[in-house]
Amino acid sequence: MKLLEEKILSEGVVEGDDILKVDSFINHQVDPALMEGFGREIANHFKDGHITKVATIESSGIAPALMTARFLNVPMLIMKKQPSRILNKNLYQTEVSSYTTEKGYELCVSRDYLSEDDHVLIVDDFLANGEAAAGAMRLIRLSHATVAGLGVLIEKSFQPGREKLESLGLDVYALARIKSLEGGKVTFLEEG
Ligand code: G4P
Repeated sequence: MKLLEEKILSEGVVEGDDILKVDSFINHQVDPALMEGFGREIANHFKDGHITKVATIESSGIAPALMTARFLNVPMLIMKKQPSRILNKNLYQTEVSSYTTEKGYELCVSRDYLSEDDHVLIVDDFLANGEAAAGAMRLIRLSHATVAGLGVLIEKSFQPGREKLESLGLDVYALARIKSLEGGKVTFLEEG
């Protein structure tokens, strides 16, 4: 998506060779009009997927997921992160490890909001190693619901997330695909 690529080039800040900070419009301050456009684009891509729910992982996925859910006219479900394993019978739970933060967490969602009849679209801000999305997939599959796909704003294509998720059978759609951040320069793979 040209608009997101332009925004990344004008406001994104590269840290090291592999981190892109987009705090001014996605991760800290949120641009609602821009986010609305991102949600419209993701919803449009999955419009024939019979989606019944959009799920995301707190916290930065909430804004794009809410906008996507609005355009698909379905509820948005927030998967929560718990620091430790607190077993709760009314939750689906799975352990997620994070490469970036080097801290694992327990991802959980209430059994009340997923059923085998659901077709769930996962939406998140970044796709890096794919651990969070793989965890979301496990939770959805625990409920016997169908995973309809993954929509992300920014994919770091030099990390293994897409490959890993596609090998698990997931349909992955990214609005911007970053080929490299080397030398502080953002290079895109192709138009998202
Ligand atoms: P994964 O989610 O694809 O498995 O990747 P990873 O474990 O490496 O990512 C951990 C966290 O770091 C995630 O946020 C992810 O969105 C974020 N992240 C990964 N790469 C980048 C990057 O280049 N820039 C930015 N801004 N974030 C990145 P999280 O811990 O779930 O935090 P939250 O923001 O959703 O609360």
